[in-house]
Amino acid sequence: MNSDSLLESNSETIELMLKHRSIRKFIDKPISNSDLEHLILAGQAAASSSFIQAYSIIRVTDKAVRAKIAEAAGGQSWINEAPEFLVYCADLKRIELACVQQGQGKLEGHTEHFLAATVDVALVAQNVLLAAESVGLGGVYIGGIRNNPQLLADLLNLPDQVYPVFGMCLGWPAIDPEVKPRFPVASILHQEKYQIEKVEADVTAYDKQMTEYYGSRDSNARLSDWSTQTAKAVQLKKREHMLDFLQQRGLLKL
Ligand SMILES: Cc1cc2nc3c(=O)[nH]c(=O)nc-3n(C[C@H](O)[C@H](O)[C@H](O)COP(=O)(O)O)c2cc1C
Repeated sequence: MNSDSLLESNSETIELMLKHRSIRKFIDKPISNSDLEHLILAGQAAASSSFIQAYSIIRVTDKAVRAKIAEAAGGQSWINEAPEFLVYCADLKRIELACVQQGQGKLEGHTEHFLAATVDVALVAQNVLLAAESVGLGGVYIGGIRNNPQLLADLLNLPDQVYPVFGMCLGWPAIDPEVKPRFPVASILHQEKYQIEKVEADVTAYDKQMTEYYGSRDSNARLSDWSTQTAKAVQLKKREHMLDFLQQRGLLKL
């Protein structure tokens, strides 16, 4: 970064963003209803594609329901333990109602609408997490809920045109994990055109950096790197059921 950069020295928000790390262990202290609602309000301030606001968030407090979700997500105990657990849903139901009301008929599972709703809810969620982090709370996304999305739909009474994209645990951190190094900006920010010729070397260099990070971090130190982790993650999380599930819910065409 440029050393005379105004942003680098002056933005508390950017400083906060650069300190992000997922939190999976929480102290036994609730988040008040009004604080939670305020975080959701901050979430909703995110931009929304054509202002469709295609999202709903389900707050799950029932311990038995949480336990079922935690098990379906591969035994993620923090889903049971977090003071708050939210399920973020892409929601085209409201939009469909508006279309019907306007005499336009029902939605027909267009991929573009599915993408817009999925992007919308992700923006809200990231705003919520960032707002939470700004007051000292922490949290973690839970994509593991898509291991069994039908279970979530049944447990949470989700109508058609709505699907659970990810969960989020929130609470007061009981731990302070290290920040994971990201790819260098130069690897992510391409100048004018996508620079395919440098991708391989960038990944090799980043793997070296991540080997050092994984080997030296305070908890769960291990011999690994980004490529190894990523290839494993992608192989384990194919979730072949997703297309069928989304089609059955009317979010994508059959
Ligand atoms: C959409 C999404 C789904 C995720 N799903 C899970 C999950 O199921 N369980 C979990 O422990 N972490 C999950 N994570 C957290 C990532 O593992 C984490 O963000 C990543 O390793 C980077 O670490 P950091 O957030 O501490 O910087 C998810 C993150 C995202 C964005």
